[in-house]
Amino acid sequence: MSSQSRKKTKFQAPKGMSDILPEDQIYWDKVKRTVNKLAGEYGFNRLDPPILESTDLFVKSTGAFTDIVEKEMYSLRTKRGDKLTLRPEFTPSIIRAYLENDLSSLSHPVKLYSIGPIFRHENPQKGRYRQSYQANFETIGEQDPALDAQSIQLFFSISRELGLKNLITQINSIGCPYCRPAYRKVLVSFYRSRKKHLCLNCQRRLKQNPLRLLDCKEKKCVQLAEGVPQIIDRLCDECNSYFKNVLEYLDELEIPYILNPRLVRGLDYYTKTVFEIWPEDEEGRQISLAGGGRYDGLIKSLGGKDTSAVGFAIGINRIVNLMKQRNVKISLKTRPLIFLIQLGDLGKKKSLRLFEDLRKAGLETTSSISKNTMRAQLAMADKLEARFALILGQKEVLDETIIVKNMDSGTQEVIPLNKVVKEIKKRLKKGK
Ligand code: HAM
Repeated sequence: MSSQSRKKTKFQAPKGMSDILPEDQIYWDKVKRTVNKLAGEYGFNRLDPPILESTDLFVKSTGAFTDIVEKEMYSLRTKRGDKLTLRPEFTPSIIRAYLENDLSSLSHPVKLYSIGPIFRHENPQKGRYRQSYQANFETIGEQDPALDAQSIQLFFSISRELGLKNLITQINSIGCPYCRPAYRKVLVSFYRSRKKHLCLNCQRRLKQNPLRLLDCKEKKCVQLAEGVPQIIDRLCDECNSYFKNVLEYLDELEIPYILNPRLVRGLDYYTKTVFEIWPEDEEGRQISLAGGGRYDGLIKSLGGKDTSAVGFAIGINRIVNLMKQRNVKISLKTRPLIFLIQLGDLGKKKSLRLFEDLRKAGLETTSSISKNTMRAQLAMADKLEARFALILGQKEVLDETIIVKNMDSGTQEVIPLNKVVKEIKKRLKKGK
């Protein structure tokens, strides 16, 4: 992890694991601070699960036939015979904690984030470690394409604040339990006739996990995958229109993305949207900085109610490596707070974009995209001690105006929407 070379000493850190040295702490602190700050602004609460969990939790959630469960878990048996595993990812732990601690009785969506180590017994190589660190975000309780888009937006807000540009979203939809089985059949029959051209791993996967054949990195499998029928052409109407909506939100937010029909992700629980974020340059390809997607069936399969969720995790080691590689300078500053309130469909759509404009203008802004009433949103603005609430309803969007409410004095004023940044800055300068 450090550029410093390691000496041959009597004891060495385990293969694929390394120390985070003092000289690198400035990057790690910056990433963690940024994650904590933006998680707060986007309405996430922190949850730290234990590092060890029952092995069965990962077998059931991550999936028995995934690389992680088949090959990469650090598992142990205690003296009393309990089977435990060092977490290879956060999502199963978070859902277990959500169910066990009755967080499902809270008002939804429940938004949880975590920062900490994960363990995967992978072949160590550039950007791939056996102990690495993730910042993980889960939004539990709603099936709304705006939330899928906002998860990706959150990544870009974090990366922008860390000074990382030229990143690109790879996105795909892998359907749902209604449309995926039919695609699976098409896929299996496509590959069955070409089985002898597949790598040994894929020949085995064909039976258990055929979707994974699409993203095998072996040259001959990559070549074969080029002629494969695409899932995107075989989505059911619901998944199709859901995916279109996600893309529309990404367009609205001007998030750079490319459709990647071969992106299937290596974990079993995903439904509909899946995504990864990569550096744009050639060298950075295949090194995902973050990955995630929607998983509408996992909570029920772990014994909870039928509950939708979406989430993603950022690989902190890879982010730090990229910051160092790109010589990112680190600066500290604090800014005042705005709470952006949206009402109605038009207000919600417009507010996603405005939220980004305000943040880009250096105005620390927070909002609650999935709370739709004025009362609930004002209560949050109050709780967060926002100095201003900006209110964008149907009427304001049509009139191209916005209401500025001073949360200390309670006074409010209607101003033209295109002057909002200037007006807020003016008020901040005057201290009112
Ligand atoms: P993942 O794609 O397996 O997803 O991991 C997310 C990110 O963690 C990767 O994009 C990468 O940056 C980093 N990462 C993973 N493994 C390693 C490794 N061996 N060395 C260095 N970095 C690594 C998940 O873990 C899902 N639980 C994400 C999620 C949350 N999906 C829904 N909610």
